[in-house]
Amino acid sequence: MRVEDLDTPSVVIHLDRLEANIARVQSMVDARGIANRPHVKTHKIPAVGRMQIEAGAVGLTCQKLGEVEAFVRAGVCDDILLSFNIVGERKTDRLMELSASLRRLAVVADNEEVIDGLDAAGRRHGRDIPLLIECDTGFGRNGATTPERVLELARHAARKPNIRLDGIMTFPNQAPATNSFVERSLHLLEAAGLPIAIISGGGTSALLTMADFPLMTEHRAGTYVYNDVMMMAAGFASLDQCAMHVRTTVVSTPTADRVVVDAGSKVLTHERYYVENFGAVVEYPDAIVERLSEEHGVLDVSRSARKPKVGEVLSIIPNHCCVVSNMVDEVFGVRDGIVEVEWPVAARGATR
Ligand SMILES: Cc1ncc(COP(=O)(O)O)c(C=O)c1O
Repeated sequence: MRVEDLDTPSVVIHLDRLEANIARVQSMVDARGIANRPHVKTHKIPAVGRMQIEAGAVGLTCQKLGEVEAFVRAGVCDDILLSFNIVGERKTDRLMELSASLRRLAVVADNEEVIDGLDAAGRRHGRDIPLLIECDTGFGRNGATTPERVLELARHAARKPNIRLDGIMTFPNQAPATNSFVERSLHLLEAAGLPIAIISGGGTSALLTMADFPLMTEHRAGTYVYNDVMMMAAGFASLDQCAMHVRTTVVSTPTADRVVVDAGSKVLTHERYYVENFGAVVEYPDAIVERLSEEHGVLDVSRSARKPKVGEVLSIIPNHCCVVSNMVDEVFGVRDGIVEVEWPVAARGATR
């Protein structure tokens, strides 16, 4: 099948770009001599995870247990980091069942309640749980907010028979204060007789500044596999490195300057973060994806000399590829205009 034969809206992945993105980041992380642990939340597809492992990743990162389940079912790798606080017995029991089928399933925690819950699950299931203490080094989300708090949590974890303290993690490792935070944490942990082996950093745009954070021992990047408008704005990717395109048909041209396509927020999503508008139109660089209803994308083409016509198919690079993955049942891998593979998005909707 040719790409033109796909009905729209559909999400296509340019395979040459995907492969090049995987190789590029593997060599960036290799050049630092640290471990590459890509985050699967961007693609949620076991076959893509397998490509990352085959390129040299030591293991994968998942954000949710449901993602771990999808990747374990597919037997992609034997070493996963679950970078989310796991709360409640229902979830810790699932965690333990999953850890039985992996060589290593590590988790993070940033409070005593989560550590206690993990330890109790470890006891119930007769397993030890590798743990990283999550640190907030500037992002303002989860994480111990001071090195002293890291030490407190590490001491708490060390008292738990079924917890094995492996290290610390942060996201993204970009804020200048990250180095002093990590340095002081390491100093405090060592002085307390709690040495750690892993310091895990993450983020795609943080790949550009890895050299500024020499204490990291592994890197977790996700978005780089596909790239998107945000990664172009961050200076990480060019248009030609964006592997994900949303193909969408022009369904109306109500005025000379307004074009409506059949992809709205239910495909492109309203994600904006630090970029303007709702995507980049490959064929019409001057077009602005101005507004999205659920199923309508409204483009301002007043600056385009040439105007799209009804029936024409456009390719839009989304602002944030990771959320688009979660909107569709399948993506189509394309090379030289031919649809080479159809990948079900196995962990789509796996938010529990
Ligand atoms: C904990 C964690 N690690 C790594 C990543 C990967 O970041 P990026 O998608 O910017 O590469 C994320 C992204 O949300 C994350 O939340």
